[in-house]
Amino acid sequence: MSALATVRAAEGLDAFLDQLEERLEEAVASRPGVVREIGAETLAAGGKRLRPLLVFLATPPAARTGEQAVAGGAAVELVHMATLVHDDLLDGAEMRRGRPTAWAAYGAEAAKSAGDHLFACAFVQLARTGDARAVTLLADATLALARGEALQRRQAFRPDTSVDDYLARCSLKTGKLFEAACLLGGASLGAFGLALGVAFQIADDILDCSGDREATGKAGGVDLKDGTPTLPLILAAGRDPLVWRALAGEDVPNALERVQASGALEDARELAREFAARARAALDGEPDRTSLEALTHAVVDREA
Ligand code: IPE
Ligand code: IPE
Ligand code: MG
Ligand code: MG
Repeated sequence: MSALATVRAAEGLDAFLDQLEERLEEAVASRPGVVREIGAETLAAGGKRLRPLLVFLATPPAARTGEQAVAGGAAVELVHMATLVHDDLLDGAEMRRGRPTAWAAYGAEAAKSAGDHLFACAFVQLARTGDARAVTLLADATLALARGEALQRRQAFRPDTSVDDYLARCSLKTGKLFEAACLLGGASLGAFGLALGVAFQIADDILDCSGDREATGKAGGVDLKDGTPTLPLILAAGRDPLVWRALAGEDVPNALERVQASGALEDARELAREFAARARAALDGEPDRTSLEALTHAVVDREA
């Protein structure tokens, strides 16, 4: 994410990120046992901390290292971590952030409990601030996430899933948390966050088909294996009957190569760019316009 260099240079960001890491460590260490171990490992594995970065950029400059911003940043990242632990279990994904996933290392039951614990930790962060609006915002986003994952189960092995239904799923499972991160900061950047989240998810779905595994830290081809109709897979299925059959669950040799050869990845990236442009169009005189704009480019053209 080279365009991120602009964003990383924002004044006060280093101090915010230091406080954030400290808060996250403290939050996951609240109880002893395997759940704490999984939380600590998920945290130590890193990640881009993109959602807390949105909280930071959406907060008025004078308040960016204040309690509200740090608690909000920690809360969105904890919800994100919780969804990843549960998502990897549902997706049967064995690698995340370059390490074995929680369920692969500790088993399904432990991963379920660890995810639940992380969700709870997120709400503890916000409840402590006494800000009922913030709690409601995150609760709504978390409900949307659960609906998005449920929708994904319903769409599994359905190559006839429409692009609109795919986009509805992306809004729910990814866009809403980006939106909440922005709204937690206080600025009216909800529409920006929602569109940015959809662009981000489309890019993730492209990376699943073609990304460099060292860079993403995840195994590739998980979506095709799971029958998850992502945009590149839906487009490729419309062009190549064998990809259609693979996405419907048939064992088709070299199906991922066929996806790459179909031109679907390029067209999917075009739609990601449209959503990034939609995010930019939602900006309106924010103090950090340059950083926010850089972010819209970075989420689409990224390798990790
Ligand atoms: C992965 O999110 C899940 C999606 C919404 C695609 P990130 O790519 O932000 O994951 P980390 O936190 O950087 O590992
Ligand atoms: C994003 O979808 C997961 C959530 C938003 C919960 P993916 O399943 O594509 O995410 P990765 O690829 O596993 O990170
Ligand atoms: Mg997944
Ligand atoms: Mg993915």
